[in-house]
Amino acid sequence: MSWYENNKMWEIFYDCMFDAESFQLAIEQCQHIVELLGQPINSVLDLACGPGRHLIGFAKLDLEVTGVDLSGFLLNQAANLIDQQGLSANLVHSDLLKYQPGQKFDLITNLFTSFGYYPKPADNQKVLDNAYQWLNPGGTFIIDTFGKEQVAHAIEPVHCTEYDNGDVRFERPLLIENMSVYANEWILVRGDKAFRWEYEHFVYTPVELTTMLKQAGFKDIEIYGSLTKDDYDLNAERLVAVARK
Ligand SMILES: C[S@@+](CC[C@H](N)C(=O)[O-])C[C@H]1O[C@@H](n2cnc3c(N)ncnc32)[C@H](O)[C@@H]1O
Repeated sequence: MSWYENNKMWEIFYDCMFDAESFQLAIEQCQHIVELLGQPINSVLDLACGPGRHLIGFAKLDLEVTGVDLSGFLLNQAANLIDQQGLSANLVHSDLLKYQPGQKFDLITNLFTSFGYYPKPADNQKVLDNAYQWLNPGGTFIIDTFGKEQVAHAIEPVHCTEYDNGDVRFERPLLIENMSVYANEWILVRGDKAFRWEYEHFVYTPVELTTMLKQAGFKDIEIYGSLTKDDYDLNAERLVAVARK
């Protein structure tokens, strides 16, 4: 089993990754994304939607929303949260490469470092190829991840985070395989228990990501350091690509 298929780990680490503040942030991010598009849209597909943070944000903007994710646990969270807020979304439990949408979309997103997980480079390319195919003409694909330069600049041998609920998470990140792969180990200390999760995914420079997007067919590719169009540089927190069909 690949690390990202381990439903139990998404469950254990859920509170670290998706706290209430992160849901609020996602609502703001959806507003930024819609502003960034500069044109009205109706439909959105969020690839690897997780607990639906952005589905909620887009649904609040009255968009027709679809989310796909492999984790049944995270999709259940999404379903409950969307329901609680009286919103609606199509939720699809599937691997990204097995999903076959019955429609095309005005906007496709892949947010919060959810790209590059497949161990075979061709499979990650296929995610972009599919996004291109599934967009309406003139549609936009937005990917939000972190860039290779940013990791190389900011990486610390050990990083520790303490949470309000008393959990403590240690991280031990590395850049491996000629700096093409970000490999991290998380150790979560919760009460008298400790949980360990190792994961790794490809990291890209803007040039590498742009090349892959072009190969998928995209044109007019813009690179930013945030969803509010900050420059991509060593001070930027994210690597954002906006690609048009
Ligand atoms: C870091 S989380 C981000 C979730 C969401 N985009 C957000 O911003 O809250 C990465 C997500 O990718 C999903 N994922 C990983 N591999 C996947 C795959 N092959 N197919 C579908 N979803 C996948 C995980 O289940 C998880 O929900």
